[in-house]
Amino acid sequence: MKRPIAYLSGTGRSLPETVLHNADFAAMGLETSDAWIVERSGIRTRRIAKKGESTTSMGAEAARRAMEKAGVAPGEVDAIILSTATPDRLLPATAVEIQAVLGATRAVAFDIAAACSGWVFGLALAESMLIAGQAETLLVIASEKLSSIVDWTDRSTCVLFGDAAGAAVVQRSKQHRGILSSFMRSDGTLADLLQRPHGGAKTPMSEQVLRDRSHFIRMNGREVFRHSVRSMAEATDRALDGARLTGRDIDLFIPHQANIRIIEATAKHANIPLEKVFINVDRYGNTSSATIPVALDEAIESGRVHEGSTVLFVAFGAGFTWGSMVVRF
Ligand SMILES: CC(C)(COP(=O)(O)OP(=O)(O)OC[C@H]1O[C@@H](n2cnc3c(N)ncnc32)[C@H](O)[C@@H]1OP(=O)(O)O)[C@@H](O)C(=O)NCCC(=O)NCCS
Repeated sequence: MKRPIAYLSGTGRSLPETVLHNADFAAMGLETSDAWIVERSGIRTRRIAKKGESTTSMGAEAARRAMEKAGVAPGEVDAIILSTATPDRLLPATAVEIQAVLGATRAVAFDIAAACSGWVFGLALAESMLIAGQAETLLVIASEKLSSIVDWTDRSTCVLFGDAAGAAVVQRSKQHRGILSSFMRSDGTLADLLQRPHGGAKTPMSEQVLRDRSHFIRMNGREVFRHSVRSMAEATDRALDGARLTGRDIDLFIPHQANIRIIEATAKHANIPLEKVFINVDRYGNTSSATIPVALDEAIESGRVHEGSTVLFVAFGAGFTWGSMVVRF
């Protein structure tokens, strides 16, 4: 097993207060039911940002809490890596807006776009920056306001997503604690299966795009499901092999929270019993790259992750992208 270089020294989360229940969709005129949503996805409620709450405000709040726990002041931060599929502005990066709110004046700040896998990719990148000597104290944030990009008239997607942010401070490892292995992969030939077709540089926003609602998320749910189960299984194997561990060595498995059926299939593949799997998809739905840092912060708070715990993260998202990591806390 390699000697860990990067350590997660503090975590934080931010969740909007507004709760949307499955029953609320019927009141919005959608032909759906609590029973269908729970059976097919495991989701019961999700949080929705209210007016004024943004990717920046949620990301900054999660980051502030992570810095507090790590005992790090804004002026000590060397780099801010933000994973988001919902930047507040198309230019500049939302990471610099978070930098300004935090007052992290010494930091370099930039966004990465890897959809739901973005936070795990961000951690791997932070580790590389530590190895390269480019930074000593990094913030890796995921902030997602998916309520701003789902089509609220499309029952096959809007019931699945929610808003949230999570963050970790990453610093140089001490006492053999930190990232033990990581794996990242993507396959752009499958990009059309989960996308926002228009409104970007190729087909800029126009009356036609607005009429077609093609600037919102479109997804082939069945195909995404199939690939996600396969890729998350591969990612699980790769991270465990990299750390020379098996599922039995994992104290807590924190998979991307998109669908309870995908989570159960991945845990079964890895031989990890469900009592060792962190699940909050029922409460928050799919918050894209924020699912894993939010779950990790809750797991630390509730004592399910403590000093010495070995934790496995596995993510999958649009692109497709998928990745994984084993971390010793
Ligand atoms: C979206 C998902 C829950 C749908 O479940 P499914 O079992 O695959 O269901 P299907 O897409 O086959 O749809 C079955 C039927 O339910 C209908 N349906 C879709 N959404 C519905 C809803 N909210 N309420 C009621 N019915 C719905 C469909 O129209 C379809 O009806 P039809 O058979 O008459 O055409 C599932 O495919 C999934 O979770 N996919 C992965 C999504 C994901 O994780 N995305 C993010 C990856 S990061």
